[in-house]
Amino acid sequence: SGFLAATGVSAASATVAPAAATKLTVLYGTESGNSEVLADRTAKEAKKRGFQAAVKNMSDIAAADLAKAGNLLVIVSTWGDGEPPESATTFYKEFMGASLALKDVSFSVCALGDTSYDKFCQTGKDFDTKLEALGAKRVTPRTDCDVDYEENYAAWLNTALSAFAPSAPAPAAAAAAPAAPGALVEYGKKNPFPSEVAESLILNGEGSAKETLHIELSLDGSGLVYEPGDALAVLPVNAPDVVQAVLQAAKLTGTESVEVKGEGSKLLADALREDYDITAVSRAVLTKLQAATGSTELAALLADDAKEKLKDWNYGREIVDALETFAPSGLSAAALTGIFRKLPPRLYSIASSPLAHPGEVHLTVAAVRYQAHGKARKGVCSTYLTDLVKKGDNVRVFVQPNKHFRLPDSGETPVIMVGPGTGVAPFRAFVEHRSSLGHPGKNWLFFGDQRYTYDFLYQLEWQDHLKSGALSKLDVAFSRDQPEKIYVQQKMLEHSKEIFAWLEEGAHFYVCGDASRMAHDVHEALLTIVEKQGRKSREDAEAYLEDLKKTKRYQRDVY
Ligand code: 2AM
Repeated sequence: SGFLAATGVSAASATVAPAAATKLTVLYGTESGNSEVLADRTAKEAKKRGFQAAVKNMSDIAAADLAKAGNLLVIVSTWGDGEPPESATTFYKEFMGASLALKDVSFSVCALGDTSYDKFCQTGKDFDTKLEALGAKRVTPRTDCDVDYEENYAAWLNTALSAFAPSAPAPAAAAAAPAAPGALVEYGKKNPFPSEVAESLILNGEGSAKETLHIELSLDGSGLVYEPGDALAVLPVNAPDVVQAVLQAAKLTGTESVEVKGEGSKLLADALREDYDITAVSRAVLTKLQAATGSTELAALLADDAKEKLKDWNYGREIVDALETFAPSGLSAAALTGIFRKLPPRLYSIASSPLAHPGEVHLTVAAVRYQAHGKARKGVCSTYLTDLVKKGDNVRVFVQPNKHFRLPDSGETPVIMVGPGTGVAPFRAFVEHRSSLGHPGKNWLFFGDQRYTYDFLYQLEWQDHLKSGALSKLDVAFSRDQPEKIYVQQKMLEHSKEIFAWLEEGAHFYVCGDASRMAHDVHEALLTIVEKQGRKSREDAEAYLEDLKKTKRYQRDVY
């Protein structure tokens, strides 16, 4: 097959001019889009260096295809508790269970992850191990990237491409792309847009246990565009009391001067507020703290045989606790900033349609607050948006496209949406969008939250949509209005027959919200519905849902 030429690594670097270019497969698995963006960049750079590169999504290939991949670069993220991205799950399972002979494959893995999670980069590690176990040759070690992946990725790409074929760049492709004439400032990940807050209000009624913020941001003058299903990345700043607590624990005042990469020197207090993740504890942070302090107690906690102990210690704790416990005599300003990573942006599913709200983007944000180890704790970005940001302030944002959460191409296709809590956000965008376009397809929403009186997010809007016909059906589950819990999946089961009928008519099925339990329980309910209503075996029902996923009719945005 066409892949075969790719295995002759050394032959390809021969100087005979018209020799076939070295082939390269860039395989990615993506959840929020980062791996996909990096895969595209990888292919682009590879082409510049004379490779013939093809990009493949894990969602679109079978494990056996890898046998003929030749030169392979894998870029994959890890999600939640060491899980592969949703769209890569089927491929991941198949590959992990596969017994293929990959002796003709040369590879390297770039793993994306978040060091604040226990199973950091687990999916990338799994691919790396399994590829080697199947006989593939690792040309350069895997790189494990934290949320600020840029530097690691760039170094890895350079080494990996050189390892495959140290060929000179093809002259035509190597020429720098001309700058767009008259281009104004371009806003995006590298240059977030300062977006003005046009509206900010709490959606829950007085007396609710929840605190859900509706925030409207202006995109005027940004050039930023989005589609329903996309996410907005928000760059928070740390709260003054959190900065103060860290300064106090480190025995510093904040008036010290520090060097911040890319920003020059700054007052420590400002750097802690704006530049660094000063809360999330992780093995990475603790390892650096150990090196800075020499603490033997911390060294013991980081030992290979103390993994469970470390996990227990980290639970509910923040960096400030680590400073108090393991750096009792404080740290220098430079040593303190040396343990931090960059403050990562947070992604929120966009709650508005750009057609219904031109020039604006809306978010639905749950404020995270809890008590742990005797202290009040709070989510960095959700409480930044809730407590610190006022109408008229600017919030730094960029759009993170999510091609795996999209309305059907046809305006006639029926849509079923399951979105309890803040999971309702993208469905507000969906319904607004279809309504603005005058699409006739039926739309069915399952919504749930704790209490009808306080927590029926966007209730009046749903009622208007029902009246106008933009929303065809609405079923709600208020979990705490009665002694026994009622959840969205129970509402689904009550409507089994109709849900199955909609699916058979070609409906798309969407789930957004809690990944740890809700999405799993909703999946089980859907499986039961297909099994019972379709009179299928469990395996056939599973295959039916697998097929829905493959044909992009079953999409999830879970967190
Ligand atoms: P609870 O907090 O009363 O248990 C939005 O947060 C809603 O999702 C709440 O009503 C919450 O109920 C509910 N919820 C919690 N766990 C769930 C699960 N496993 N499946 C579906 N809904 C769930």
